[in-house]
Amino acid sequence: MKLRINWKQHLKTIIVFLLIVAVGGAIVVVSGIAPIAASSGHWEITKWFLNFSKERAVATHSMLIEVPDLDVQSKIVQGAGHYEIGCLQCHGSPGKVPPRIVSLMTPKPPEIAAVVPEREPQELFYIVKHGIMLTGMPAWPSQERDDEVWSVVAFLLKYPQLSETEYQQLALGDFEKQSAQTIEGVADDALTVPHEVIESCAGCHGVDGQGRDLGVFPKLAGQNEAYLIATLNAYQADRRHSGTMEPVAGRVDEEIIKGVSRYYSQLNSGDATISSAGTEENPEGIARGQEIATNGIPEQNVPSCVDCHPTSRAPYNNAYPTLNGQYADYLELQLNLFKQRKRGGTKSANLMHAVVDHLKDEQMRDVSLYYESLKFNE
Ligand code: HEC
Ligand code: HEC
Ligand code: HEC
Repeated sequence: MKLRINWKQHLKTIIVFLLIVAVGGAIVVVSGIAPIAASSGHWEITKWFLNFSKERAVATHSMLIEVPDLDVQSKIVQGAGHYEIGCLQCHGSPGKVPPRIVSLMTPKPPEIAAVVPEREPQELFYIVKHGIMLTGMPAWPSQERDDEVWSVVAFLLKYPQLSETEYQQLALGDFEKQSAQTIEGVADDALTVPHEVIESCAGCHGVDGQGRDLGVFPKLAGQNEAYLIATLNAYQADRRHSGTMEPVAGRVDEEIIKGVSRYYSQLNSGDATISSAGTEENPEGIARGQEIATNGIPEQNVPSCVDCHPTSRAPYNNAYPTLNGQYADYLELQLNLFKQRKRGGTKSANLMHAVVDHLKDEQMRDVSLYYESLKFNE
C-alpha cells in the first residue's frame, strides 16, 4: 500500500496551531500579564530568544564589513577619549564600576572586558554604530561617518588588557582637573580658564588648546572666535557631523559656547611641529603644498587657498577657520570628509565643496603638510 501524505489535513493542523499561538499571545499581551518590568528581569525563554536574534542579526549584518588597520595609536587614543565621555556611564572603566542605577537596567550593560574577546572587530563596529534595539545600548550619534566608530573599536580591542592607570593615560593624557586655573594667553596676559573647559573640553583639546599632539583632536588655540562659535552651533544643530562633538556641543548653552570660544581663540597656538605627520621629513611635500595654497591649481580648477585661509594673521577678520599650525592629519581628514560630503559645517561650508572636488589625494596631503608647518603668528 502506498503511504499518502494528506497535505490538506496537515495544512489545516498547522493553521489551527498558529491561530492558537496567535490568540494565546494576544491574550497574554492584551491582558497585561506579560512582564515588562525591568525589576524582574527576562524570562529564560525571552532571554534566549532575544540573545539568539541579536547574535544572528549581528553576524549577518557585519559579514561584509571591511576592517581597516586598527592598531594605530592615534585611533586608540581618539576612541578612548570618546569612551570616557560616551560609554563609561553605562559600562564602567578599568577600576570604576558604573553607577548603581545602571545595574537596574534589563539587560544590564555588560563589562566590556568580558565581551570584547567574544567578538570580531566588524561585529563591534556594527554594535557601536547601530546600537541594540530594546536595550539601553544607544546608536552612534552621527550615522554619516564611520572613521570615528572605527577609532572606538580600535580602543575596545585594547580594553581587556588595560590597567586603571593605562586607561587614564589613554583617555585623558596628562590632564588633571585640579591643575591650571589660569594660563598664559596672548601678550602675556594670564587668562582664567573657564570651568567648562576643564570639565568637558580639556581631556581632548587640552587646557592649552593644543589637542594632545596626536592629530586627531584639532588645535583650538588661536582659532578664530567667530568660527569656533559657528562651528559649535553647527555641531549642536547636527549640521556638522561628529559622533564625539555633537553630544558635547549639545550639552552646552550659548553663553558657555561664547565663553569657551573666546578663551581658546585668545591662546597662542604654539609650535606646530609635533604631529604624526612628520613635517620635517617632507620638505618637498611642504613646498608642493605651498604652491597649491598660494596659486591654486589652475589646470584642475582649484582656487588658491590663501584667499580664504591666509597664512598671516594680520588682515584676517572673517569667520573662516585659520589652518596655520593645525595638524596635517586633521586637515587631511576634513578635506576627505568634504569631498565625500560627510563633514557638514557652518553655513559657509559649501564653499569648500567646489575646492576639494578637483583635489587629488596626494595634493590634499601636501597642502595639509604646508599649513601644519606654519606657525600661528607668521
Ligand atoms: C545608556 C547606557 C549605554 C551606553 C551609554 C552605552 N552602552 Fe553599550 N550596552 C548597553 C547595554 C544595556 C548593553 C546590553 C545589550 C544586550 O545585552 O543586548 C550594551 C552592550 C554593549 C556591547 C556588547 C554587545 C554584545 O552583545 O556583545 C558593547 C561592545 C557595547 N555595549 C559598547 C558600547 C560602547 C563602545 C559605548 C560608547 C560608544 C556604549 N556601549 C555605550 C548600554 C549602554
Ligand atoms: C572626547 C574628546 C573631545 C572632547 C571632550 C571635546 N572635543 Fe572637540 N573635537 C574632538 C574631535 C575628535 C574633533 C574633530 C571632529 C570632527 O572631525 O568634526 C573635535 C572638534 C572640535 C571643534 C572643531 C574644530 C575645527 O577646527 O573645526 C571645536 C570647535 C571643538 N571640538 C570644541 C570643543 C569644545 C569647546 C569642547 C568642550 C566643551 C570640546 N570640543 C570637547 C574631540 C573632543
Ligand atoms: C572661497 C573660500 C575658500 C577657499 C578658496 C578655500 N576654503 Fe577652505 N574653508 C572655507 C570655509 C568657509 C571653511 C569653513 C567651513 C565651515 O565653517 O564649516 C573652510 C574649511 C576648511 C578646512 C577645515 C578646517 C577645520 O578646522 O576644520 C580645511 C582643511 C580647508 N578649508 C582647506 C582648504 C584648502 C586646502 C584650500 C585650497 C585648496 C581651501 N580650503 C580653500 C573657505 C574656503
